[in-house]
Amino acid sequence: MTEVLSVHTPDEKVLVVDFGAQYSQLIARRVREAKVYSEIVPHTITAAEVAARDPTAIIFSGGPKSVLIEGAPIVDAAIYDLGVPILGICYGQQLMAQQLGGVVGGSGSGEYGRAIMSIGSPANSADAPGEAAGLLAGLPSPQTVWMSHFNAVVGAPPGFVASASTEGAPIAVIENAERRMWGVQFHPEVAHTPHGQDVIERFLHDLAGCSAQWTTDNFIDTAVADIAAQVDGRRAICGLSGGVDSAVAAALVHKAIGSQLTCVFVDTGLMRKDEGEQVVETFRRHQGMELIHIRAADRFFERLGGITEPEEKRKAIGELFIRIFEDARGGVEDAHFLVQGTLYPDVIESGTAHAATIKSHHNVGGLPDDLDFELVEPLRTLFKDEVRSVGRELGLPDEIVLRQPFPGPGLGVRIIGEVTPDKVTLLQEADAIVREELRIAGLEREIWQSFVVLPDIRTVGVQGDERTYGFPAVIRAVTSDDAMTADWARIPYDVLDSMASRIINEVAGINRVAYDITSKPPGTIEWE
Ligand code: XMP
Repeated sequence: MTEVLSVHTPDEKVLVVDFGAQYSQLIARRVREAKVYSEIVPHTITAAEVAARDPTAIIFSGGPKSVLIEGAPIVDAAIYDLGVPILGICYGQQLMAQQLGGVVGGSGSGEYGRAIMSIGSPANSADAPGEAAGLLAGLPSPQTVWMSHFNAVVGAPPGFVASASTEGAPIAVIENAERRMWGVQFHPEVAHTPHGQDVIERFLHDLAGCSAQWTTDNFIDTAVADIAAQVDGRRAICGLSGGVDSAVAAALVHKAIGSQLTCVFVDTGLMRKDEGEQVVETFRRHQGMELIHIRAADRFFERLGGITEPEEKRKAIGELFIRIFEDARGGVEDAHFLVQGTLYPDVIESGTAHAATIKSHHNVGGLPDDLDFELVEPLRTLFKDEVRSVGRELGLPDEIVLRQPFPGPGLGVRIIGEVTPDKVTLLQEADAIVREELRIAGLEREIWQSFVVLPDIRTVGVQGDERTYGFPAVIRAVTSDDAMTADWARIPYDVLDSMASRIINEVAGINRVAYDITSKPPGTIEWE
């Protein structure tokens, strides 16, 4: 597939230079919350490449290394001479200090967690004392900040003033208003720094001169114009998976080109209860889209007959999905474009982030890249939370916009052993009860994913005076930020109790309920 960028990036942008921090994406999101567009770039970017992108401001992220060891990541020092305002965070601050002639040293045992920061020049600052300058203007002192560092700046570079201190970092903030460079040892991007967003916004809006134009409305207007220009009277096709990303991509493209878009929904029969119908209802009735709905459950069950090995199952589902999509495409002969809901985290250039987040099996249920289409990827500059607000603005219902992540092979990987229509029905019923109970308890938003797994075993029970021999249902509910790591959700016992008694009473065939208390790692979120 030829890659086509369908959304141009805004003129005003902030580059977040990534030094391998777990927080780079969070920094980029915080910048966007300040209504300024941001992009993450690797620290190997050259000054010429930075200049070519013409950023309004630059933020250096933190990083796991020490600037004092050989081979620690650095930036092209010519970046400091571009005249672009820079904010260094943690490692980024230390690197800036070191490259500009300051001194970084060990800070005793380091500081990890909350620290109390006082604003004002510390007594041991070698440079001009003066007022607590620009970056922290208007903020209370002392205040709580979140620290995570071993080294610290111990001598500010020439031309910089030190304007705040904590016990473990006597020079916690450095500022050079003339060169428009600032550095903070603490992490303003994390929620544990209560005034962190104020610091980021002060830098962006007041010091770097960014305006607050990155809004959902502006994004939609620009994207719609770009898509219409790109498609230019031809036809586009979009595979709906039932998930948020393809739904929002389709709605956006539909707004831009109307009936030139045809959506294809391959209903595998492996979705959660009622979700297939809801996709059809939303897109055909409410959004008025041209939708080819292929009821393929029988074909999937036939193909899955006798397969028990997880990888074989995934492969079978993925291959059949592609074959069916290809057949459907025959009905839209002149389609030139394929719409895909690729998001920004999937395209971030910063090598490590990319390698770490994508697992090969996660593409199962997607489309191969040798299909003969040009791509329209209108969401490739967005983070998930932005996609959700675009979806809302486009009129998609919360049931779709707030939908949890769902694996491409669907319930196929939540049924251990052979997948049969009966087992899918059992699972769908039990799963719907778990979802409903979480909704009633007001917990669904706190939970990243919640679902039921149906193991391939049966256990003995007693119901009424009867002996039963049925399947156990395993409830899995996790909290997570990005699915890379996850913790089991501490669902209150009484909520678990309602789930268990409802499942056993309402779903004939299930006679026992267990709760999975494995975090990731060592477990994965899905069971297969
Ligand atoms: P695991 O089970 O590896 O899953 O902890 C991490 C996240 O990825 C989802 N997942 C998939 N998503 N296609 C997808 O699009 C897949 O084949 C797939 N397998 C797992 C899973 O639900 C969780 O959010």
